[in-house]
Amino acid sequence: HKPESCSFVIFGATGDLTHRLVLPALYNLAAADLLPEKFCVVGVARKGMSSDEMRESLLAGLKKYKTRPVDDEIAKRLLECVTCIEADPSDPASFDAMAERLHKLETNRQTGGNRLFYLATPPTGFAPIAKQLGRTGMLKENGYWRRLVVEKPFGTDLASAKALNGELLSIAEEHQIYRIDHYLGKETVQNILVLRFANGMFEPIWNRNHIDHIQITVDEKLDVGHRGSFYDATGALRDMVPNHLFQLLSLVAMEPPAKFEAHAVRSAKAEVLAAIQTETEAEALKNSVRGQYQAGKSGDNDIPDYRKTEDVKPDSTTETYAALRLTIDNWRWAGVPFYLRTGKALGMKRTEVAIKFKQAPFAMFRDTPVDNLSQNYLVIAVEPNEGITLQFNTKVPGPTINIDGVEMKFRYKDYFQVEPSTGYETLIYDCMIGDNILFQRADSVEAGWQAVQPFLDAWKKAGARGLEPYKAGSEGPDAADQLIERDGRSWRKFG
Ligand code: BG6
Repeated sequence: HKPESCSFVIFGATGDLTHRLVLPALYNLAAADLLPEKFCVVGVARKGMSSDEMRESLLAGLKKYKTRPVDDEIAKRLLECVTCIEADPSDPASFDAMAERLHKLETNRQTGGNRLFYLATPPTGFAPIAKQLGRTGMLKENGYWRRLVVEKPFGTDLASAKALNGELLSIAEEHQIYRIDHYLGKETVQNILVLRFANGMFEPIWNRNHIDHIQITVDEKLDVGHRGSFYDATGALRDMVPNHLFQLLSLVAMEPPAKFEAHAVRSAKAEVLAAIQTETEAEALKNSVRGQYQAGKSGDNDIPDYRKTEDVKPDSTTETYAALRLTIDNWRWAGVPFYLRTGKALGMKRTEVAIKFKQAPFAMFRDTPVDNLSQNYLVIAVEPNEGITLQFNTKVPGPTINIDGVEMKFRYKDYFQVEPSTGYETLIYDCMIGDNILFQRADSVEAGWQAVQPFLDAWKKAGARGLEPYKAGSEGPDAADQLIERDGRSWRKFG
């Protein structure tokens, strides 16, 4: 059903995120007839820009980043909703003027007073913008809803995430704040809950009695490209782990919520993140690997040394690859290691969670020729080929008993017609209907940072020591293999 009428206010309307994802997602919602009956989009810009100029720029973005052919009629209707308003948080008076203009616009467009403020700005903008929205009363809920959508990155460590939460919560209530992690917009990620809790056969074995360990892999082919200035201050750990990889981890590891409802689901996720064992710095060093890519080839792309990337310091010790071994201190997972790895400029794009089951308890087939009797994996593939694979052992046909591993594969595209999307449609739609189940609560964000903080601290102190080079286009540093092999295990091979 359609969301209630509202205005959709975008800060950072001239930026990359708005052009690449937000507007194309709004377009896809318009094409599916899922935008409110009365709707206006306010693009906030700092410098003087007319509404026509903004529409033109957004249309160009829409055409460039479309996920499906653009229907001129739908695009026209969407862009007619766009108005440009100027506001700059360093000039408080501009927010007073904005409040007035917004109110007038809402009267003209008959959208009522529901408002969604989408902060698609660099993170330094979040607190100052929210402060002005608070000061001018634009976030006050008075018979209408007022929501604040905050993009990633949410803080750069535990202290800054706490400070940002503190500021936002002094301006708005938790139920008004929607912290986005775009991994939760991915169908296969949402499907983890359905797989675990809508089936009778997985959950009984989803624990330390049957699971040997869990691997979470987010490999990217992309190098750092033009994002050097952001990335060099951030690194692979901050960029991916406390957010995207921990979303996967929390959905896989959480306890069953009593209801499929925001409070219950978000509490279960926060609880499991808070149960990740906090390591000492010495343990953190032992249980992690960080790497940095050197020149190489990924597919047809020649990738330069990370240190030769635009806006990257020539002696940078920022990691472009991170692998961690974590443990979760609770009844379900005690003794089950979680191995996480993610990196840039690798040989392939692959996002998956692999659940490795324990070997059959009695080695009846001890004398049977077999590669490895313990290849029992359940793989949740997020990318590529979204789906689920079960790997198990089977008898090779013939008079003698030979065993080999085989796979049962479910692929989304074999069963469902999935409309191409940006991955933001569900998230934006949910913000408009007020369903925050797919958004991060303050405690989850802080628990995520808490778990990675010892790694950040230990790596900072270590500097260049322990930074492992790897060739662009490879599978990452050898030390990542050693991290898991030292426990008598190995990373799942792709295929
Ligand atoms: C972003 C990171 O949040 O996620 C990027 O900042 C990364 O560095 C991207 O490339 C990965 O997203 P996806 O959906 O391509 O796996």
